Amino acid sequence: MATARTAPAGPASAGAATAAPAAPVALRGVGRAFTAPDGGTRDVLRGVDLDVAAGEIVAILGPSGCGKSTLLRIVAGLDHPTSGEVAIDEAPVRPYDVRCAVGFQEPRLLPWRSIEKNVALGLPRGTARRDGRAQVARLLELVGLAEFAGHRPHEVSGGMAQRASLARALARNPEVLLLDEPFGALDALTRLKMQDLLLDVHAAEPTTVLLVTHDVDEALQLADRIVLLGTDGDEPGAGIRQTVVVPGHRPRDRGSAELAELRGRLLDGLGIDRHGAARGIQATTTIPHYPY
Ligand SMILES: Nc1ncnc2c1ncn2[C@@H]1O[C@H](COP(=O)(O)OP(=O)(O)OP(=O)(O)O)[C@@H](O)[C@H]1O
Ligand SMILES: [Mg+2]
Repeated sequence: MATARTAPAGPASAGAATAAPAAPVALRGVGRAFTAPDGGTRDVLRGVDLDVAAGEIVAILGPSGCGKSTLLRIVAGLDHPTSGEVAIDEAPVRPYDVRCAVGFQEPRLLPWRSIEKNVALGLPRGTARRDGRAQVARLLELVGLAEFAGHRPHEVSGGMAQRASLARALARNPEVLLLDEPFGALDALTRLKMQDLLLDVHAAEPTTVLLVTHDVDEALQLADRIVLLGTDGDEPGAGIRQTVVVPGHRPRDRGSAELAELRGRLLDGLGIDRHGAARGIQATTTIPHYPY
């Protein structure tokens, strides 16, 4: 695992004055149990061990309900593990850890504030007004929203709102960016464009990224590594079932035979019948619900 911080590569960022650092993340034996309605406990996660290198993009795939969001929330300090530990840059995660920024499926913008002011909400506390203005302008430029700074969220498209949400997360200057199905609510074409944008943003500000997605192709396009989360037989609690290193450099050829082969393996790992289309059933790369 790389422990050194990576300096931003920089040239693609629109006049970046502030560096977005990247920090390694280490999960050791992470488990999370919740209280069940009958008063007992239910293991959701169990024994998750994962090292994410500084600047790496790791995608997390797994059936609905297997604990992907819970895992992300634990890394962000929005929830706590019931066993094991999580460290960012070798220091334990703290509640609402300021080293992390989280992006969700829905943009969660304040409707009465302009796009610019929504992005400014992500700035770290105590940012000087002038620095903040410059930072927001730079991020709006980076996500292609400079011309829409004064618009309200209802005056922009869903994809633009999601770009604003990404800019707000980046305004925090996070060492770790946690994205929970960030493009899940977008149409297919906008989704592809957002994937490209995320890669541009990552090239400009190579922060560490943990990305939860239901889309195998999205994971293959964006990630350095893909982690499959799931249970092992009747064992309670999900853990890492498979880790796949995605070959080649980004941006990857979406039509490459190598990725197609890997896609098949991942679908097998998720228990999805990839020959459904041949039998007249609509083939899908999204993942079914977890059986509880
Ligand atoms: N605060 C909580 N209290 C009790 N149970 C919870 C809590 N948070 C999550 N769970 C349970 O943990 C399990 C995993 O939830 P989680 O949201 O992490 O799944 P997920 O993999 O992100 O699913 P999806 O793909 O549908 O978003 C679910 O069964 C959920 O009901
Ligand atoms: Mg979830």
